[in-house]
Amino acid sequence: MPVYLLAIESSCDDTSAAVFCDNVMRSNVIASQKVHETFGGVVPELASRAHQQNIIPTIDKALKDANIDKKQLHAVAFTRGPGLLGSLLVGTTFAKSFAQALEIPMIDVNHMQAHVLAHFIQNADKTKAVPEFPFLCLTVSGGHTQIVLVSDYFDMKIVGQTIDDAAGEAFDKAAKILDLPYPGGPFVDKNAQEGNPLAFQFAKPRIPGFDYSFSGLKTSFLYFLRDHLKSDPLFIEKNLKDLCASFQKAVIDALMDKLLKAAKEYNSNSIAIAGGVSANSGLRKAISDLNAKGFQTFIPEFQFTTDNAAMVAITGYLKYIRGEFASPDLTVFSRSGI
Ligand code: KG4
Ligand code: ZN
Repeated sequence: MPVYLLAIESSCDDTSAAVFCDNVMRSNVIASQKVHETFGGVVPELASRAHQQNIIPTIDKALKDANIDKKQLHAVAFTRGPGLLGSLLVGTTFAKSFAQALEIPMIDVNHMQAHVLAHFIQNADKTKAVPEFPFLCLTVSGGHTQIVLVSDYFDMKIVGQTIDDAAGEAFDKAAKILDLPYPGGPFVDKNAQEGNPLAFQFAKPRIPGFDYSFSGLKTSFLYFLRDHLKSDPLFIEKNLKDLCASFQKAVIDALMDKLLKAAKEYNSNSIAIAGGVSANSGLRKAISDLNAKGFQTFIPEFQFTTDNAAMVAITGYLKYIRGEFASPDLTVFSRSGI
């Protein structure tokens, strides 16, 4: 019998709901919150309020798009953490009430595992190639930068991570310095596509092992611009595309350097990327270029890169078939391992 599952994602500033039939997506609705744009970053209090406003219409649309009645559902999956507490509470509380009203089980999902497991979402005719275990996944988002050794669906180990800013945060901070809108990653990417990545050079992070650091790069970028703006106030306008391309190259070089070192250490020729920054065109190219070097690579569809409930649904489905359900008295968490 097919399993119908509703999933809810509300860990940060996207309210999302998805409906799955087994491991195949039937709908995936994302309501992005525009309210944060004017503040240049996510305001937690406003995020919780917007989730409260968006959650019912988003779930309603997901059920309608999937052509499923709520009575057909077998389970509700939701993001338990990590994320913003107030945001997580909206999705979790809704999932608890919904599951209780329908007398169906609920399944708690770790957001970072979900980013990785998005690679196991199948297409309608179930022909999509999925990674075989073990593989390495570079998860790069606004809040995290992790190299994860994935030995099984729920056997993941972080082998390297950022010691300060996340890669997405670095993109967003650089964009802010350049006076680009928030979130800046996609704008840096867009400008970078027409710029020269070799035009400028910034300080390279020197961190041992497989860990990352992006705060030095951000400072180097800031000081570089401050110096140039002194002699030419129009420096950014004149060089925007080259600045974006050069900054993006610095981030990608740093990401790829440690990822390849980890691949060597863990003897892995299977590499995936996940998270919002995996939407970046330069990173996607750098990863797909690895195919020519004998790697097998997995790059997510754009709709599964930034936060979405489809990744929560596939994780929920994989837990459902293992019989792993959540107790109604569980609480959310803001930080965690994987
Ligand atoms: O995974 P995500 O939606 O949320 C978190 O869990 O953080 O990632 C959002 C991050 C933001 O920092 C955004 O700027 C970045 O992903 N991002 C990008 C691109 N698209 C989104 N960064 C670089 N290039 C992109 N095309
Ligand atoms: Zn995320």
